[in-house]
Amino acid sequence: MDLVEKAVQRLAELKKAGIDAPVAAATSESAAAQSPAEAIPTPERFARALERAQPPDTRTAAPAPAPAAITAPAVHVRRQSAPAEAGQRSREVHIDLEALAAAGFVTPQAQRSQIADEFRVIKRPIIRNARDRVGPRAERANLVMVTSAIPSEGKSFVSLNLAMSIALEVDSTVLLVDADVANPSLMKLTHLPQGSKGLLDLLTSPDIKLPDVMLRTNVEKLSILPAGTAHGRATEMLASESMAALLEEMASRYSDRILVFDAPPLLATTEARALASHMGQIIMVVEADRTTQVLVKHALETIESCPVVMMVLNKAPRPEVGSYYGQHYYAAAS
Ligand SMILES: Nc1ncnc2c1ncn2[C@@H]1O[C@H](COP(=O)(O)OP(=O)(O)OP(=O)(O)O)[C@@H](O)[C@H]1O
Ligand SMILES: [Mg+2]
Repeated sequence: MDLVEKAVQRLAELKKAGIDAPVAAATSESAAAQSPAEAIPTPERFARALERAQPPDTRTAAPAPAPAAITAPAVHVRRQSAPAEAGQRSREVHIDLEALAAAGFVTPQAQRSQIADEFRVIKRPIIRNARDRVGPRAERANLVMVTSAIPSEGKSFVSLNLAMSIALEVDSTVLLVDADVANPSLMKLTHLPQGSKGLLDLLTSPDIKLPDVMLRTNVEKLSILPAGTAHGRATEMLASESMAALLEEMASRYSDRILVFDAPPLLATTEARALASHMGQIIMVVEADRTTQVLVKHALETIESCPVVMMVLNKAPRPEVGSYYGQHYYAAAS
């Protein structure tokens, strides 16, 4: 059975199990615009696009691993509202949205751009899975990690665009977390002052609480949690018990929000794998024409524990690959 047949069989199994059918998009500022009909995602098209995106000498590489078998029934958990935080008000910062739009990002003012259209397709299943709490790790469905096999594939680009796109929904609130603590970039991308406290301070100082370091922005439903004060053992802290406890608290306390984590690459370090084991959904960014199928396969093997993995082919340069996209859902093997 080839990769496509496996993917089709897998989708049928997941549909049966009540997990949302795959819909996703990849992003490329240079890609040709597609008609809505062309934008219908299928695993076959993703597999074909990924195959075409490989450098010629790597095309014979082994296919991505078959998804693990479903071992847990779908569970539905009612959403709870976040407890009131009396007297706790986060600091507000101002994102220069014009500069962001000029740099090619989704903004409230540029909702009809190609990039906005692409992220509209990417975000749909993520929002649906978070709201419906479907899948084996239902209570964590609102924790969404963006990662990649190797550095520079576009994780921060996808994280910020995704968070902005979700925040533009009528009833979705987002917290964008800079979890790439060794190489933080979200404050720079949003032209916000560096040096704010954030995630690492939450892990090192028990007295600091999330609302103290979370930044509200001029995009009404978008808040940012910076990486925080640089720390010699920053990467170890991401894989620590304190981080696991913080993620559990975040998932339940902010159950009405979608938390998007801009994470480190999977094959360069080990902390991204540790983070992945706590996430409800993972978006794996794959850079077209650069990341080989072998690397994608190895990266996927490191996150087998996450029940929902979606793949986004980024920077697709050729019109025939176009704004190609694809998505795979995996059931937990536990
Ligand atoms: N779809 C895209 N179209 C054009 N440029 C892109 C796209 N995605 C990413 N880039 C550019 O590619 C470069 C790397 O992107 P980005 O910083 O988001 O990658 P990253 O995976 O977060 O890198 P790192 O591993 O260093 O954190 C940036 O210059 C970014 O602007
Ligand atoms: Mg980055």
